[in-house]
Amino acid sequence: MPSRLKIALQKKGRLAEYSFELLRKIGLRFVANGQYLLLKCPDFPADIILLRDDDIPAFVARGSADIGIVGQNVVWESGKKVREICSLGFGACRLALAVPRKSKYKTLRSLKNTTIATEYPTSVKKFFRKLGVSVKIAELSGSVEIAPEMGIADAIADIVESGTTLEAHNLIPLDPPIFKSEAVLVASPKISAVKRKLLDDLMARIEAVQAAGDKKYVILNCRAKDLKQIEKIMPSLEAPTVLPLAKQGEFALQSVATEKEFWVALPKLKAAGAKDILLLNVEKIVS
Ligand code: PRP
Ligand code: ZN
Repeated sequence: MPSRLKIALQKKGRLAEYSFELLRKIGLRFVANGQYLLLKCPDFPADIILLRDDDIPAFVARGSADIGIVGQNVVWESGKKVREICSLGFGACRLALAVPRKSKYKTLRSLKNTTIATEYPTSVKKFFRKLGVSVKIAELSGSVEIAPEMGIADAIADIVESGTTLEAHNLIPLDPPIFKSEAVLVASPKISAVKRKLLDDLMARIEAVQAAGDKKYVILNCRAKDLKQIEKIMPSLEAPTVLPLAKQGEFALQSVATEKEFWVALPKLKAAGAKDILLLNVEKIVS
């Protein structure tokens, strides 16, 4: 039976939707309806395994999954040996200490001898050991943000992305954070040569998606007399493509630019005589 790459993803949580979206963008098809934990991809020899994010590093380290998408925070906390292949450009967050708005604790050092509730005991202990401040840890596996209200802890150390969770529980973060983290693609040190080739194929696709980034395809028309000026103004990767229209004396220009470059150039393009301007999405760029 041909090898199938086993990809571990977070079942639900901050990274789940982005991870599914990335795999779809690189051409993997699968049905994630919440019913199954193993999703087979019909168009590529890969199976997706849906796990709690905390279990992903262990699965990948022992080769039960060949690759995984997970936050660096989860990898660091686990201490498992996995190979970090690349950052994926989403899931940026920080592990931060936070206290109730009315708390008497206002700085990291003032937390001496307090109890801190967290899903990240190893990272928190390491941080306070380095700071030379002793704290007690109340280890929880979820719902950390209600610990101070419940009288279980004085402060929490939890992942903050948008800040919505802290805000909703009247908690304020203390600076600096323990660390900053983002979503990464990790691979097993035990991955076979055959599966390594499959991973390389997926990597090339991810690079093409990342290269496209926020780039757009710009198309516009203009009169022959305005062509030279518009060519100069139009943002592009190398130089715009110029094509004659079927209508005598008119041209189409096409180029790739970031959305920001496009909006900056737009008033100048219009003033120089550009018309029928289209902005299209660019899915992938392969160089
Ligand atoms: C983290 C954290 C909060 C949330 C914070 O959970 O525990 O619940 O994200 O995000 P916010 O600042 O945007 O509100 P995560 O999905 O990382 O994983 P978990 O459910 O496994 O703890
Ligand atoms: Zn988790």
